[in-house]
Amino acid sequence: MTPKTNELVARATSIMAQAYAPYSNFSVGAAVLTSSGNIYVGCNVENVSFGLTICAERNAIAQAVAAEGPSIKLEEIVVTNKNADGKSIPCSPCGACRQVIAEFSHPQTAIQYRGKQTDIRVSMEQLLPDSFRF
Ligand code: THU
Repeated sequence: MTPKTNELVARATSIMAQAYAPYSNFSVGAAVLTSSGNIYVGCNVENVSFGLTICAERNAIAQAVAAEGPSIKLEEIVVTNKNADGKSIPCSPCGACRQVIAEFSHPQTAIQYRGKQTDIRVSMEQLLPDSFRF
């Protein structure tokens, strides 16, 4: 936990209301904290051509880059979800999002998501060990 974690949880939770998820009925919200102290949010945006779906995490990161430019660094990320019953389920960021998070993170960037009992918090290097770089 950091002083910003509660705000990140609240922002990720509230942006789920904007999700466009008619196919999965699974809403996802993400809030990212950049090293400049700003928070950006994103939700999932699905498409009838399913592979074009944008995940919440990548949406939030794109908002951060658009606002602050290409040299952003992510310090902390919170991901929330809600299924058709309005309930949250244990769910970690998908593989594609892990690679995109890694692009703008450092090894100690914190990623928090819903686990079986409570929220799980891991570092970037735990979430995607030995990530691709060249
Ligand atoms: N989804 C995310 O937004 N983030 C993830 O890390 C995993 C999956 C979304 C994509 C799709 O709209 C729905 O969840 C079901 O896969």
